[in-house]
Amino acid sequence: MKPILIAPSILAADFARLGEEVRAVDAAGADWLHLDVMDGHFVPNISFGPDVIKAMRPHSAKVFDVHLMIQPADPYLEAFAKAGSDIITVHAEAGPHLHRSLQTIRALGKKAGVSLNPATPANVVEHVLDLTDLILVMTVNPGFGGQAFIASQVAKVAQLRQMIAGRDILIEIDGGITPETAPSVAAAGADVLVAGSAVFKGGATGYAARIAAIRAAAEHARGTMV
Ligand code: DX5
Ligand code: ZN
Repeated sequence: MKPILIAPSILAADFARLGEEVRAVDAAGADWLHLDVMDGHFVPNISFGPDVIKAMRPHSAKVFDVHLMIQPADPYLEAFAKAGSDIITVHAEAGPHLHRSLQTIRALGKKAGVSLNPATPANVVEHVLDLTDLILVMTVNPGFGGQAFIASQVAKVAQLRQMIAGRDILIEIDGGITPETAPSVAAAGADVLVAGSAVFKGGATGYAARIAAIRAAAEHARGTMV
């Protein structure tokens, strides 16, 4: 079984000190860095774009896991690839041509992800699995950090785990992840856990301990996976 990966979300970092924050979570044991891009249209909040990702890139060699909450996404995929993304994830709800978006991301030489809002059923990815490297299950409605985990999504994670059996696809969970909520999704088959508030709140001296606490809770629960 693959080890659980922890991806701190930079959305919860101090934006005035982004380079320093990226170096700090990298040094604290983050496996990936999760970068939330919001457009004020697909989601009711605006965060940052490719130029900011490009500016963060020299501060860590770890995987840049870019979560696009933008509509449309296709016209910007090349810019996000050039900015230094390793994985580019688009929302299934953000456009009529998910298959084309994934083809474009792969053609840019990047790993392709599909994200599902809480109301979106698992089966929307069923016919694009050949083009998918990662499925990002939202456990909050996207747009803001610090929201409460939506427990009904755990069943979706289990459903996806069955659907992708035998394929090289990772399941990532995003929203409300803490040492208390991580066990349920880890037991259901999650591979990667995004955590914003649970890592960043409280300051940099606690980053390593908070990443370790989420990882330990998830790994322990995985032992109970059937
Ligand atoms: C929400 C973002 C998340 C967010 C998670 O739209 O996609 O990545 O940063 O924040 P927490 O962990 O605080 O729920
Ligand atoms: Zn995210």
